[in-house]
Amino acid sequence: MKLKLVFAAATALCLGIGAAIAADEPQVVRQEMMKKVGGAMGAIGAIAKGEKPFDAEVIKASLETMAEVGKTFPDQFPAGSETGMDSEAAPAIWANMEDFKAKAAALVTAAEGQLAQLPTDQAGVGAVMKAVGSTCGACHETYRLKK
Ligand code: HEC
Repeated sequence: MKLKLVFAAATALCLGIGAAIAADEPQVVRQEMMKKVGGAMGAIGAIAKGEKPFDAEVIKASLETMAEVGKTFPDQFPAGSETGMDSEAAPAIWANMEDFKAKAAALVTAAEGQLAQLPTDQAGVGAVMKAVGSTCGACHETYRLKK
């Protein structure tokens, strides 16, 4: 009985450590970052489409998330992290790191530009989506694998 408990505790510890290591992998970190950006885009999109009521705070928070992620996203592509953990990163990233960084900077610029002139009603949200949305596609086209 006691032995069983010790074994269970040891197993739990191992699992815990395994999860911690996996969460630190750049492939996981960058996918989490993009999930956040995707969520932010979804929140803006829902307002633009009229599915959710206009809320300037939601727009602001979403744009802040995008700007924040855009600044550190390119740091999550060290050599050796090209594949694994279901990554959809294209090999072109490592061949064109400067251009990849420029595409991330374009997202930051677009998000910060929109933050500087936040819409005051639902009618203005479409323009926000367009401004940031074009930078998503511009990067994904070349640097995200279609799976
Ligand atoms: C600088 C390039 C770049 C920009 C800009 C960019 N993305 Fe991405 N995105 C990527 C790459 C690369 C991946 C694949 C990452 C991986 O799997 O390792 C990705 C993956 C994603 C994913 C999938 C995340 C997952 O694994 O579940 C979503 C969602 C996403 N991006 C949304 C967006 C949206 C929305 C925007 C614009 C607001 C955006 N991205 C802007 C490069 C970019």
